[in-house]
Amino acid sequence: MKKNTKKWSERFSEPTSEIVKRYTASVNFDQRLAVFDIEGSLAHAEMLKKQKIISVTDFNAITKGLKQIKKEIIAQKFKWSIDLEDVHINIENRLTKIVGVAGKKLHTGRSRNDQVATDMRLYLREVVDLTINQIKILQKETLNLAEKHIMTIMPGMTHLQIAQPVSFAHHLHAYYEMLERDKARFEDARKRINILPLGAAALAGTSYPIDRKFVAKLLKFDSVMENSIDAVSDRDFLIEYNANASILMTHLSRWSEELIMWSSPFFEFIEISDSFCTGSSIMPQKKNPDVPELVRGKVGRVNGHLLSLLTLMKGQPLAYNKDNQEDKEPIFDVADTISDTLTIFAEMISKLTIFPDNMEAAALKGYSTATDLADYLVKKGMTFREAHGVVAKVVKFAINKQCELSEVELKSFQKFSKLIDKDVFDCLTLKGSIKSRKHIGGTAFNTVKAANKQAKQKMKN
Ligand code: ARG
Repeated sequence: MKKNTKKWSERFSEPTSEIVKRYTASVNFDQRLAVFDIEGSLAHAEMLKKQKIISVTDFNAITKGLKQIKKEIIAQKFKWSIDLEDVHINIENRLTKIVGVAGKKLHTGRSRNDQVATDMRLYLREVVDLTINQIKILQKETLNLAEKHIMTIMPGMTHLQIAQPVSFAHHLHAYYEMLERDKARFEDARKRINILPLGAAALAGTSYPIDRKFVAKLLKFDSVMENSIDAVSDRDFLIEYNANASILMTHLSRWSEELIMWSSPFFEFIEISDSFCTGSSIMPQKKNPDVPELVRGKVGRVNGHLLSLLTLMKGQPLAYNKDNQEDKEPIFDVADTISDTLTIFAEMISKLTIFPDNMEAAALKGYSTATDLADYLVKKGMTFREAHGVVAKVVKFAINKQCELSEVELKSFQKFSKLIDKDVFDCLTLKGSIKSRKHIGGTAFNTVKAANKQAKQKMKN
């Protein structure tokens, strides 16, 4: 290995050791911020020109140089150097090589501390917009599937035991609602991301006559950060994004778990399209639901990154500390993971095959209209608690007889309560049970149909 002879600056008497250089450099991963870094630098330079802090000639040279660098980076011709530590120094160094002394003026009134905070916010703003859009696409696919299955009956579960019959669309709408809240959380977080830190310089601001509001306008930030110390040290916009991503992934993991169960031969409610499954290297008959399993598994890394970021910030004294460099890899991975997950999930949902008959057959199995029988007795004058006790006895009787509630004869029913008449059979059917739950948020077919329409309308706005 070539021996390093370069000192960090003239303040130092020894060169940086090789291992320290490698340990402290971030260029291998923060080069991903390059386009945002250039965007921020272009706005900063324009402000310096407007405020007459640099000349028009220098500004023109800087702009030209930065645009060339952007092209080099996009064409993958830019030579990144670990000797130049991070994306910021790499670009500034190259700029000076291209345009000479003007390049050395770009950093006037700025520090890497406010620069990197700006880059991260520009990056995350783009990411959060993508996330919001991808959630919308998944919501649309969910509503499309639900629209086709308003009349499909499935066993609603509690404790993974058959509880009460529901419309399959109603079940899908539950996920639509979770995604609606996820989306709102990202939209809200965006407000706190889209504020400009630049101008804070190292931490205390700068003595140059800068115009921060002008830079904010150029970079389409809603406002400027009010406190320079906070501006360079705050990373809670990243933690918030990650926390929102964790909640989103948690929702998707629940859905994944259901897809895995539903596609197993014990349920056979659905089939996941072949393009989303893989086989086994030993068992030729296998078709494994790898995609939902991986979604479930990837929650681990997203949650892990959240813990990394929280731990990274815990107890950090103000203002900027190098610890913050560790914010990048987790957040990049979170953004990539949820972007891929949302894309793949939406496609998987659009290609699901549903077996309504199997769902309905399962709903018929588990005495799922027992609550309806209790409600029937209450409507005939019994208290609910008493009715609950009577129906528990009827269910026990049916279990012993190995028959469903709707197969119990009227005279047997009447042994349990004289209030029971032949109209009881109306409430024991799955359809009757579903139709009766017609309040807002209930599973009645018409209610679900209206909910689907309303949600679709909302998505159009
Ligand atoms: N690479 C650094 C980071 O990601 C940039 C800021 C460096 N600032 C400093 N004072 N060393 O945080």
